[in-house]
Amino acid sequence: MNLPQTPEPIRNPEIKYTQIFIDNDFINSESGKTFPTLNPTTGEKITDVQEGDKADIDKAVKAAYRAFEHDSTWRQMDASKRGYLLSRLADLIERDRLYIASLETLDNGKPFKNAFHGDLDMCIRTFRYYSGWADKVCGKTIPVDGTFFCYTKHEPVGICGQIIPWNFPIMMAAWKLAPALACGNVVILKPAEQTPLTALYLASLIKEAGFPPGVVNVIPGYGPTAGAAISSHPDINKVAFTGSTEVGKLIMEAAAKSNLKRVTLELGGKSPNVIFADANLDVAVEWSHQALFFNMGQCCTAGSRTYVQEEIYDNFVQKSVQRAKARTVGDPFNPSNESGPQVDEEQFNKILSLIESGKKEGAKLECGGQKIGNKGFFIQPTVFSDVTENMRIGREEIFGPVQQIIKFKTIEEVIQRANKTEYGLAAAIFTQNIDHALTFSSRVRAGTVWVNAYNVLSPCAPFGGFKLSGFGRELVCLTAITIHIYIGIILSLFDCDYYARLYWYNTESV
Ligand code: NAI
Ligand code: MG
Repeated sequence: MNLPQTPEPIRNPEIKYTQIFIDNDFINSESGKTFPTLNPTTGEKITDVQEGDKADIDKAVKAAYRAFEHDSTWRQMDASKRGYLLSRLADLIERDRLYIASLETLDNGKPFKNAFHGDLDMCIRTFRYYSGWADKVCGKTIPVDGTFFCYTKHEPVGICGQIIPWNFPIMMAAWKLAPALACGNVVILKPAEQTPLTALYLASLIKEAGFPPGVVNVIPGYGPTAGAAISSHPDINKVAFTGSTEVGKLIMEAAAKSNLKRVTLELGGKSPNVIFADANLDVAVEWSHQALFFNMGQCCTAGSRTYVQEEIYDNFVQKSVQRAKARTVGDPFNPSNESGPQVDEEQFNKILSLIESGKKEGAKLECGGQKIGNKGFFIQPTVFSDVTENMRIGREEIFGPVQQIIKFKTIEEVIQRANKTEYGLAAAIFTQNIDHALTFSSRVRAGTVWVNAYNVLSPCAPFGGFKLSGFGRELVCLTAITIHIYIGIILSLFDCDYYARLYWYNTESV
């Protein structure tokens, strides 16, 4: 990747906000409890953060409810003004980009250059893109029979609970907040307990931008307490969640049992990345390496089943091992490092135990497989060959720097095997054969398909999965309810549901 120049990071960014954000104020938790957030590079505590729980969620819901139902400032605000606030917020993030990227690296461990050029770029572009949507959420007119004028209108859903993970903290916050605010909703955002700091700083910018009190509330805390209080709250109208499939199921259950709140889920994956013998080998090796090792493997879309056609298999494995061995891992503030630590000890242990299971179940460990050093949560870039789908490493989401390379012979076989998973988030194919590209991309069961590319995302295009990878789509201006209005007679119409799939074709010659 050719990145523009990276500025010098702030290695010890001042920690400015550690309290709960409700009604545009930073306050202590009701219980007075706090929790530590750790630096994954050293394993040491950065600071203590106020721990939100059910009582704080209740308080935030009251503030959000008031902002939505009673205080006319937000509800009656011109849509263009909502758009202006979002674009002002994008400007403020841009102003503080160096500080926020440094804070993200400190709290999450991702390389600073990726935080600065990747996460912050996507965050700013997301707020800018949705600032443009705010006054363009249009309904339509429907030519019904009879003497009626029928039209639709999009209404905000109301109070949206948003529960986000730690792998892209500020970017996930932007993906959730921007579409919801563009449509006029109010939000209660719960960042992951591992990485609360950038979301709290973002809250201060939301206030500075001029959003009215109660429109955005940020409650740091743990999943089974603060998170569960959101998904089971009877006055929250929607919950949007990104995280594990296991917790996604709990959230849907709680939503059903409480008030049938709307649910969107963006969950795990075990995405197939298929390399045909006619692909440009070196290009495919590099894309496949990045598809897995980017962000220390902590991507829901990670290309974690690398299928390689038998004619080039040995060569591909050899080159992939060479590339993984050359990957630089260490201090994420050092610009020469491509990888930093895993986010916490739980993930670190999960990954190491899956590596052990791979060895036991007969996969060939080509390189890596060990932790690095005794401080922080660093793991060697690891490559397994001779992997099959019945091994745990060929089936389960590892969420770490562990590449599985699998041999295949024919397109029909690889389509069957790519789909033999309970997940369906993403898929990719590398080939110069247009028939193969089109056949595979239309038959693979995955929400996003890349052709001769991987992990290309945009705030302008929807994102989400099939099967246990969840449902609903992020990044479409849909945090709204379509109401159908018949002047003369009111009928209720049905909502239709479908899987949308997105294709990305790399138009550059590869
Ligand atoms: P998690 O699903 O437990 O955490 C994600 C978010 O959900 C966090 O904000 C957490 O506080 C919250 N949460 C946890 N339990 C909850 C509950 N009962 N009710 C409401 N909210 C709850 O994921 P975790 O434990 O951090 O990672 C476990 C695995 O999940 C990873 O190894 C990875 O396989 C997968 N994962 C997938 C992500 C994705 O981008 N799709 C992101 C993070 C994890
Ligand atoms: Mg968990």
